[in-house]
Amino acid sequence: MAPHHFPHPIDGVRFSALGTHHAKVLLAFENANREWFRRTGEDREPDFYSHKGVRNHIAELGEDHRHGRIWPLLVFSDDGELVGRANLRRLSRDRRGGSVGYRIAEHACNQGIATQALTELMELAYRTQGFRYLTATVNVDNHASQRVLEKRGFVRVRYLYRQPTLTDAWEYRHSRSVLRHWWWKLVGDN
Ligand SMILES: CC(C)(COP(=O)(O)OP(=O)(O)OC[C@H]1O[C@@H](n2cnc3c(N)ncnc32)[C@H](O)[C@@H]1OP(=O)(O)O)[C@@H](O)C(=O)NCCC(=O)NCCS
Repeated sequence: MAPHHFPHPIDGVRFSALGTHHAKVLLAFENANREWFRRTGEDREPDFYSHKGVRNHIAELGEDHRHGRIWPLLVFSDDGELVGRANLRRLSRDRRGGSVGYRIAEHACNQGIATQALTELMELAYRTQGFRYLTATVNVDNHASQRVLEKRGFVRVRYLYRQPTLTDAWEYRHSRSVLRHWWWKLVGDN
């Protein structure tokens, strides 16, 4: 899974576990990209966009992390700028599975950062946490995110009808087991 084929190879992207000391930089990142995330259907409640909102958000994720439910990562560029976030969550209905999510600053897109973040989440899930499979849910019109998943071998398994409140989405899966992976690829799991 070496990221050797990136169109614009990037070196030195660094991952850091989210902590309380990141509150200020995280608020700045979310504020700067608020409109971008809103346009891509990844917006948040208005209460989130304040020092208190972000501190509460970090505290909630910290609590979930302590219980082994989530691994929230921040992605920093070479020069120390926060350029993205990536989360691995444990699926409550099956403790052997997890779900992945990520968001990248608008100005840092199309440089392979989400792909690198997904690679990091896959390493964490399979090598460190011993998960057997991963899922992701992506809006049908989010072609960039679909491409990121497909570059890392995720396959579409299910169309999720979520109208009228949410945009319809694709559910993607990736498996550590080659046999199960090909089963999903051939027939999905419907
Ligand atoms: C989706 C997102 C994470 C992609 O991040 P990124 O760092 O730009 O992703 P990468 O550079 O690793 O890869 C993007 C790929 O999508 C492709 N792409 C970009 N826009 C595209 C589009 N409109 N249609 C098809 N492919 C597209 C790029 O060319 C690239 O593929 P390539 O390497 O084959 O050229 C980023 O746009 C984002 O954070 N969006 C807002 C939040 C979001 O949607 N999160 C995901 C929720 S599931």
